[in-house]
Amino acid sequence: MAHVLFDPIKLGPLTLPNRIVMSSMSRDRSFGGLPTALNAHYYAQRAGAGLVVVESTAVSARGVGWPNTPGIFSDAQVAGWRLVTDAVHSKGGRIFCQLWHCGRNSHVLTQPGGARPVGPSAVLPPGTIRTLDGRKPLEVPHELSVTEIGGIVDEYRAAAQNARRAGFDGIQVHAGNGFLLDQFLRDSANLRHDAYGGTPENRCRLLFEVVEAVCSVWDKDCVGVRMSLTNPTVYFLHDSDPATLVATALRGLGMLGIAYVDMVEGSTTADPATHELDYPTLRRLFPGLYVANNGFDGLAKAEAALASHADMISFGRLFIANPDLPARLRAGAALNPLNKDFIYSPDHRGYTDYPFLDGIVDP
Ligand SMILES: Cc1cc2nc3c(=O)[nH]c(=O)nc-3n(C[C@H](O)[C@H](O)[C@H](O)COP(=O)(O)O)c2cc1C
Repeated sequence: MAHVLFDPIKLGPLTLPNRIVMSSMSRDRSFGGLPTALNAHYYAQRAGAGLVVVESTAVSARGVGWPNTPGIFSDAQVAGWRLVTDAVHSKGGRIFCQLWHCGRNSHVLTQPGGARPVGPSAVLPPGTIRTLDGRKPLEVPHELSVTEIGGIVDEYRAAAQNARRAGFDGIQVHAGNGFLLDQFLRDSANLRHDAYGGTPENRCRLLFEVVEAVCSVWDKDCVGVRMSLTNPTVYFLHDSDPATLVATALRGLGMLGIAYVDMVEGSTTADPATHELDYPTLRRLFPGLYVANNGFDGLAKAEAALASHADMISFGRLFIANPDLPARLRAGAALNPLNKDFIYSPDHRGYTDYPFLDGIVDP
């Protein structure tokens, strides 16, 4: 039986050999914010994905949330990413950079000059965050002024420029999982009364401005957005009317003409506050490609989503443990189990040492 998952698909100027996206995943092995040859090996191992989206990558020093996550705001970071993009391209792959600003999910111990993390509103977020001194409770963020918001848009534009210099094929703007753009989108974190708060349109404003800034540097065919508007995440964000918010975001992104959205459908936590939405219907509001994510555990579920509403499927955890995931899914081979103890270990263990199928050579 033919499977759509292995059919090629056009993404802007690229032809992806399959509809499998490697979902962005932080792995905390970029020490001092610098991507390394170890990171390059990891991503090259996974170059069989139709598209690799690298882990969240900070657009500025203020955008960093916790130690050993990469950035793309210095020449040294651009040079580090060049190792990664060259390695993936040498294996015939395609690779997008996920641009990230953590907003309030950071800590004075991580921020430059011990500054307070920033956010849409000065409300105390629940939860904790990693620092060089262990996990610490989150703090009340500094509420961004309209002028400061303009500065953040500029940071995304500069980071998008740097991603070009680093050899990426495109950009995924991270507007999900509780980070800065998500904090503006959802009304549990955004209590503003100005043009960036209140109505869903106003709460989407920063996302749209960031996307426009990125599209001033990249062809819009090479730009995607990740969202997770029904996912409480480990940072406990929620919205009082997620269906309207998803619809507003999808309509606006459609008008901006970007290539795709990558939607974390449902929840990645067991939080009962999760709202399930009718994604197949909502998806029709967006004319570009729709990537479905969350909990795809193999071929059958992926094919069902492709048949109902998705153009591509992004796989997260399966890609940690299975560098050759597309080949395994195609062959119907067993999948390696995930070793949770080594997700964030500082070295190659649980990172580049998962076994390949017989006959596939580790690059
Ligand atoms: C270790 C880990 C790190 C993650 N880091 C990111 C990230 O940097 N950016 C992002 O958009 N999502 C991140 N996620 C979420 C995944 O991309 C994905 O949405 C989630 O794991 C659900 O997909 P799955 O069921 O296929 O794993 C992370 C998930 C895991 C397990």
